[in-house]
Amino acid sequence: MAKFERHIFVCGNVRPAGHPRGCCDPGGQAELQKRFKQKLAELGLKGKVRANQSGCLDQCEHGPNVVIYPEAVWYGGVTLADVDEIVTSHVIAGQPVERLMLKDACLNTPTCEHRHKS
Ligand code: FES
Ligand SMILES: [Zn+2]
Repeated sequence: MAKFERHIFVCGNVRPAGHPRGCCDPGGQAELQKRFKQKLAELGLKGKVRANQSGCLDQCEHGPNVVIYPEAVWYGGVTLADVDEIVTSHVIAGQPVERLMLKDACLNTPTCEHRHKS
């Protein structure tokens, strides 16, 4: 079987309500990951692109978070309504969806303005 060309990691981490960092999937139903998987299947991309549910990606304040490899493009604030656009624009056409991309100043930096200061 051919290798996967891309992996879409969708954070499905659940934390209790009121947690200072929040979490990407408060409902715990993995709806976002399931929607990606469904869309990929509809487009015949099963076996080429895989949507995996992941644990915390440590960008919680910007969630729900999604990262696509091998490009290492990070998206934040992703909703069910964004899935079609991410798949058609990024995965199929190779054009990342800029309006959803995490800013460099936010990604992996403890100093990002959205992190709760403790
Ligand atoms: S809970 Fe999703 S990145 Fe931490
Ligand atoms: Zn930030």
